[in-house]
Amino acid sequence: MDDATPALQARQLYAAYHQQPVLENLTLTLPQRQWTAIIGPNGAGKSSLLNLVIGSLAPLRGELEVLGQSAPSQRRAGNIAYMAQQERMEWDFPISVRDTVLTGRYGLMRHDPLWQRLLPQRWASARHYQAAEAALDAVDMADLAARPIGELSGGQKKRVLLARALAQQARILLLDEPLAGVDPPSEALILATLERERNAGRTIIMVTHDLPSARCHADNVLLINRRLVGMGPPEAMLSDAMLARLAVGSSPGFQQGGVSVAA
Ligand SMILES: Nc1ncnc2c1ncn2[C@@H]1O[C@H](COP(=O)(O)OP(=O)(O)OP(=O)(O)O)[C@@H](O)[C@H]1O
Ligand SMILES: [Mg+2]
Repeated sequence: MDDATPALQARQLYAAYHQQPVLENLTLTLPQRQWTAIIGPNGAGKSSLLNLVIGSLAPLRGELEVLGQSAPSQRRAGNIAYMAQQERMEWDFPISVRDTVLTGRYGLMRHDPLWQRLLPQRWASARHYQAAEAALDAVDMADLAARPIGELSGGQKKRVLLARALAQQARILLLDEPLAGVDPPSEALILATLERERNAGRTIIMVTHDLPSARCHADNVLLINRRLVGMGPPEAMLSDAMLARLAVGSSPGFQQGGVSVAA
């Protein structure tokens, strides 16, 4: 696959839960090496779209290619790192912050050559530990690396889960509301980290309700409300007129909230 291969290509894609459609007729192409913000009201199908991309939800109809291949095969190949909106985690499990982030590397460890896996753990895993440490630094959690995850606040947990995704150093970073519930300094740190990752050539696809961050940082904005409402540069997509179109059929608070935040 070369850089011209789209990160995502969807053609007339439909998704449903129990025959109830949640995404209809999505046709879109997202290039690699760009930062795309996915914006839409609650229930618009944003998380469902990410579930299609990681292969945990099968399309009802249509086609979806990730880096030119099927979503499940790219996930298995380690090309997609994913941070869920609500992680199903055993937070009471006695595991440290550092080891939680290191679990992001497990899929890659399986690809280590046999000779490397036969080395003492400390040498065999050095690059995996380094990636985990760099990711912890990026979300400002290095000081709490030895702490059991059960002792973290909600915002700190979110930052650890983001570090676990960053540690995978995958070509595509799929982040479902990475900014929700974090304080302003952490948000600034996360945005600076994602900016660095994008500049290093990674593709970032981020669901967010944070319109000012999307406006400042994203290269592309994808507006969805079950169907594709628009796709293009932030200044065009986050206009009052486009946000009003996005809100059609949504709860009354969405349009008002969206426009007032964007103002
Ligand atoms: N596992 C599931 N089983 C059945 N219905 C589901 C499931 N997950 C989501 N849905 C439904 O699909 C629709 C889209 O949900 P989705 O989570 O994709 O929305 P979203 O845009 O991410 O919303 P939010 O902004 O609240 O996170 C909603 O109506 C939701 O109730
Ligand atoms: Mg969601």
